Amino acid sequence: MTFLAQDIMDNLRSDFPILSRSVHNKPLVYLDSAASSQKPHMVIDAMSDFMKTSYANVHRGVHALATESTDAYEQARELVAGFVGADINEIVFTGGATDAINMVAYSFLAPQIKPGDEIIVSQIEHHANLIPWHFLRERHGAVLRFVPLNEEFGLDMEAFEALVNDRTVMIALTHRSNVTGARTDVERVVAMAKPRSIPVLLDGCQGAVHERIDVKKMGVDFYAFTAHKLYGPTGIGALWGKPDFLAAMQPFRGGGEMIDLVSEDHITYATSPRHLEAGTPAITEAVGFGAAISYMQQFDLAKLHAHEAALTQWSIQLMEERPWLQHYTNKDSSGVISFGMDGVHPHDLATFLDHRGVAVRAGHHCAQPLMTCLGESATTRASFGIYTSQQDVASLFEALDAAQSFFSRFR
Ligand code: ALA
Repeated sequence: MTFLAQDIMDNLRSDFPILSRSVHNKPLVYLDSAASSQKPHMVIDAMSDFMKTSYANVHRGVHALATESTDAYEQARELVAGFVGADINEIVFTGGATDAINMVAYSFLAPQIKPGDEIIVSQIEHHANLIPWHFLRERHGAVLRFVPLNEEFGLDMEAFEALVNDRTVMIALTHRSNVTGARTDVERVVAMAKPRSIPVLLDGCQGAVHERIDVKKMGVDFYAFTAHKLYGPTGIGALWGKPDFLAAMQPFRGGGEMIDLVSEDHITYATSPRHLEAGTPAITEAVGFGAAISYMQQFDLAKLHAHEAALTQWSIQLMEERPWLQHYTNKDSSGVISFGMDGVHPHDLATFLDHRGVAVRAGHHCAQPLMTCLGESATTRASFGIYTSQQDVASLFEALDAAQSFFSRFR
């Protein structure tokens, strides 16, 4: 296990102002980064400075502020593209990963889908990578095929291979589960998809946070991710797509920005990927997204990822030492652990932990089919970011031990 050195961790944590606050008179132990991560000064300041000094609409004006603003917006796109190993014209700014996946469903697949065409998803998907495909089932007669959960809380890849057939028109899988932390074997997915020319989309919400992404090396066709889990703001995310795929997409939102010429009986679109970005975009948020990437790039990303993996491995060990905890965590998870406590509802457990300053998420984690497979209505989840310390994990387990003593009195 390779944790970050204490002095590096202390410095890094001091970049995140919220981490020094208390809740319920206890120091905050923030373990809900998979839901949304906290923001460093660099992001907060970049957004605030931009609004104070350079704010204007983009791609429209010729005045100085409009030019500065457009440059800042496009510079952010370049940073986001570089972060996932893409070219600048392969990144569409979206409202988030949900928006990005909806865009692929509506603009890429819906125009070509036929009743009976099959879309492969899995039982561990977040609803963001399920409901857009359910829309195609409801409205276009598509058939959803689910890769089953295996005993290790990951995907049964043999069952996946058996699902791929001549009717498969899309494979849309999570890169890393937001509940169990399981990582999809992308190589194996691509090896099945490519010979059959089946497009592959990965929901990279958690994947982009816990490993270095190179979309081209992965060989997928679409990668959706979001800023707010990557230490950036809410309201912005990105869709990476292969240039030919993006260019072929029919915009589903029309308005300013995405057009070339408009007459009373004809429109032509802006060049890709601009044809997919209608209306005034989230300009300040894009600047914040770029700043979040610049922030992370000050560090050796591999060391940050190794630290998150070490915290997760240690947590799995601590869970396994406690027979009164059931855990639903894949052994290779990085950044996420899910568990339940005998006889205690996850919301009660999360409330108990909150009163000790420990913020975790409890519920179905927007993954109801997974909960059904687990036979649970909810789990408790702790999730880690680059600022999560060993002390945070120790505090979680101290609080869990206290919860076990407290609730055992009522069993
Ligand atoms: N997708 C977020 C989560 O897993 C909201 O908590």
